[in-house]
Amino acid sequence: MKSNSNLPPGFPGHWFLGNGQDYQRDPLGFYSKLKKKCGDSVTLKAPLGINWFLFFHPDDVETILHKEKDKFCKPGFFVRSMSYLLGKGLVTSESKLWKNQRQLLTPAFHKSRLVGMASLMTEETEKLCESLIRKSNGKVVDLANELQRLTLRIASLTLFGADIEKHEKEFGYALDIALKHLNFRFAFPIYPPPWIPLPENIRFRKQLKVMDKIVYSLIALRKNGELDKGNDILSALMKVKDPDTGRSMPDKQLRDEVITLLLAGHDTTSAAIAWTFFLLSKHPQILSNAIDEIDGNLKSASPRFENLQSLPYLTMIFKESLRLFPPAWGQPRQTLEDVELGKYIIPKGSPLVLSQYITHRHPDFWENPETFDPERFTQDKEVARHNFAYFPFGGGPRICIGYQFAMMEGPLIIATILQRIKLEMVANQEVIPDPTFTLKPKFGLKMNISKRV
Ligand code: HEM
Repeated sequence: MKSNSNLPPGFPGHWFLGNGQDYQRDPLGFYSKLKKKCGDSVTLKAPLGINWFLFFHPDDVETILHKEKDKFCKPGFFVRSMSYLLGKGLVTSESKLWKNQRQLLTPAFHKSRLVGMASLMTEETEKLCESLIRKSNGKVVDLANELQRLTLRIASLTLFGADIEKHEKEFGYALDIALKHLNFRFAFPIYPPPWIPLPENIRFRKQLKVMDKIVYSLIALRKNGELDKGNDILSALMKVKDPDTGRSMPDKQLRDEVITLLLAGHDTTSAAIAWTFFLLSKHPQILSNAIDEIDGNLKSASPRFENLQSLPYLTMIFKESLRLFPPAWGQPRQTLEDVELGKYIIPKGSPLVLSQYITHRHPDFWENPETFDPERFTQDKEVARHNFAYFPFGGGPRICIGYQFAMMEGPLIIATILQRIKLEMVANQEVIPDPTFTLKPKFGLKMNISKRV
């Protein structure tokens, strides 16, 4: 091992708060500045003298997520904050529980099941288009908000089937509050735990109860003989048996997994689709090429799973949007032992962050990184690129389980909307990324909507 006399470079920061204030003010701007001034490996000084480390080079991303994955786990504070909502679902579990659950959940995302979900995605998007045209023809709509509601509806229906419909409003509201609470916790990591009766905590716990009641009632419904009727993910998870014990998944574990899938599965995808529409609005030629591809292949038929293969340009656009505005813009880890990363030895127990937002703009791997250019995703170029220069869905064994779901849902929703609606971005609005739990347009995305003729 090399000597650890020096850690990666960084900015000195405040004696007590470290770089905390610079980070809080503008996380993405601060990361970009650090990359420019300090290079690919950076020491970030958190309050109380704790060192965090940032790694931007794809080689390090590959080491951390893939080659030496067993030397890393998710940081304690991250898991703690998330688990207030997600319990021990797939995002927050580790070691044996994670491995076991990942194995049990994987078949629910098999391609054969995804095909069945595609028509639901298109149908729900068609309904949204009709309602937008009916209600909003010529009026301004916050497309980011509409897309979030759409992907939540799709995620709820694929997870719970039609049984969720009567609880949809209540559930959506509760999830929204819970998500805001998580964002709040990430902004104020030292905020007391939920059982301390503070107003923010009381609000969160109230909505948590609402969600739990609904999820447990849906589980009970299935247990009372509805199990075989359902083709949703909840039914699929209730049917699986642990190969070691032969037992079904306990109710609490089921609850944790479905809430995890619901949260991870809707907010990220809607953000990605919103950014795609933003970028298309800024690049009329690319938009026009996309519409030509869709119209040429589908005429006016609804997009189906089988059509995605004949819409390669649309998929390239979606991938490029995920490069520039990755919904998961940072991925935290912690070292389980001293780890050698490049010329540094990072001590055991250190928190570190990988940032898709920065690595996806790394000038050694992306020419004119700020330019929106879907041609970067031709097959040849993808094959030639470093495997970890682009990782919007993470990588290694903990790669996003919903990766194929999202890569189907995004293009299907975009194609359906482009077929039916003309979108024009309202001029002079501020569209800036808001790096909270997911990277979303901070003030939404205001669009004028009209029916395509
Ligand atoms: C554009 C959409 C999406 C993006 C950008 C995204 C991104 C990610 C990333 C980066 C990770 C890795 C996190 C880590 O290892 O620290 C992840 C994990 C995960 N994602 Fe996604 N995701 C998306 C859509 C979905 C969907 C649609 C679902 C479910 C229906 C989903 C469920 C999950 C779950 C359960 C995990 C944890 C997997 C594990 O640790 O085994 N995601 N996602």
